Amino acid sequence: MQFGKGPAWLDHAVFYEIYPQSFLDTNADGIGDLEGIIQKLDYIRSLGCNAIWMNPCFESPFGDAGYDVSDYYSIAPRYGTNRDMQRLFEAAHSRGIRVFLDLVPGHTSIEHKWFRESCRAERNAYTDRYVWTNDNRETPGNMGYLRGISERNGTCAFNYYSFQPALNYGYYQPDPEKPWQQSMDAPGPQATVHEMESIMRFWLDMGCDGFRVDMAMSLVKGDPDEEGTIRLWQHFREFYDREYPDCALISEWGNPEHSLRGGFHMDFLLHFGPSHYLDLFRGPAPYFSRQGNHSLRAFMEKYLEYARQAGDTGMICIPSGNHDMDRMARHLSQDEMKLAFLFLMTMPGVPFLYYGDEIGLRYLENLKSKEGGYQRTGARTPMQWDHTTNAGFSQAAPHKLYLPVDTSSDRPTVEEQEADPDSLLHTVRTLIHLRLQEAALGNRAGFELVSDALPLVYKRGTDAGKVIVILNPSMEPICWNARGTLLYQQGDVEPDGHDGWRLESGAGCILRVL
Ligand code: NOJ
Repeated sequence: MQFGKGPAWLDHAVFYEIYPQSFLDTNADGIGDLEGIIQKLDYIRSLGCNAIWMNPCFESPFGDAGYDVSDYYSIAPRYGTNRDMQRLFEAAHSRGIRVFLDLVPGHTSIEHKWFRESCRAERNAYTDRYVWTNDNRETPGNMGYLRGISERNGTCAFNYYSFQPALNYGYYQPDPEKPWQQSMDAPGPQATVHEMESIMRFWLDMGCDGFRVDMAMSLVKGDPDEEGTIRLWQHFREFYDREYPDCALISEWGNPEHSLRGGFHMDFLLHFGPSHYLDLFRGPAPYFSRQGNHSLRAFMEKYLEYARQAGDTGMICIPSGNHDMDRMARHLSQDEMKLAFLFLMTMPGVPFLYYGDEIGLRYLENLKSKEGGYQRTGARTPMQWDHTTNAGFSQAAPHKLYLPVDTSSDRPTVEEQEADPDSLLHTVRTLIHLRLQEAALGNRAGFELVSDALPLVYKRGTDAGKVIVILNPSMEPICWNARGTLLYQQGDVEPDGHDGWRLESGAGCILRVL
């Protein structure tokens, strides 16, 4: 089954990921809110970003920062109301910004009323909503499970933390010896599918433009080759093509061959699994560090394999970071990050910028885990806007903040970087605008790798025009033969007098070629 490319706006999309807890608090309770996002839409637009992905903002006990939903149809009061979300959609659309919410279809919170009902001994509408065995001594195979918390006799599989019971989409090939393993077509799994459609429809009708889908690969159980899960997503994609053709889906899957076949419009490179994503900006010796390992061979081999599998339908997206990994700024200096962004904003696919990375927001060390964040907590701290109280994030007393603000005297802020034409912020903004103007740098423009070591060199382009990107992250100057005119430069880049260019340490450029 081959799906189309989806809405045309995706060809020019640049996303900004917002962790709502930490963006802007407008009611001084120490936690970010929807009104705060509305107030910063002009800022987001000024960066050139034309789409937002917000981490979950539905009702939740927040054991996992909202990835433990207790009501998919209501905005968590700490962020505002459903009406505020509608205002956010409207305000974003009036500025040409699309809004994606985070859908968590694989599991709920144990506090969800579906789960409470599902735990009851009497059969009811939610008995088959989760993956249960029929006896509390029988476990659901190679998954974590909850036991002893229900009057119902059985154990229930969970997906991530032990308070996130797995919703039931059935088993790809149910084991006849285990009658509790339901087929994908059984009424219980079908009701779950139907409910997820209703949830999506609810928000899409209100103005939402699509969803980032959490653990999209996790839905169907007993599905080692993911064929059942792929079939399930094909069903959802048909639903989009039929009812919401201008909306889109991006998966947390990390396997474009599967996710795009499943009908996702986009898939992320993940910081775990086989992608070698960490080789770029993190890991022990990231490519974009001056001291790094200056070969991207392993990354590029995998990337090109993914790109071949993706063909010309869905897109592979490279994020600057996200709420699950540490910050780029923990590994790279501001100058190194500039070159990293030159790479990010010239690669194919839809770029994803994690809030704060545009100013080099730091990873705060040694924080106590917040809402199940553990090692991720330091990458979820408040955005730093200016020099006022709490860096402009909140008027609350510092001890009331969701997470502490970086207190170092040289902490980056938007205000300071706005005033400095050489700042990372200006570089990121310039690069995004350049990407949007130059068809050759477009999300779907061609990609041809020329060198995966030093310098990193690749061509991008369409029939109408081509560019070549040359990046030198090393300590030494490098010369590279390439004819073309300079479209953009970062650091010192000069003609070398022999049909080539000399790039000083840390420099990069984009050439227009014939
Ligand atoms: C992936 C999300 O990005 C992460 O933050 C969450 O903890 C898990 N999925 C579980 O939903």
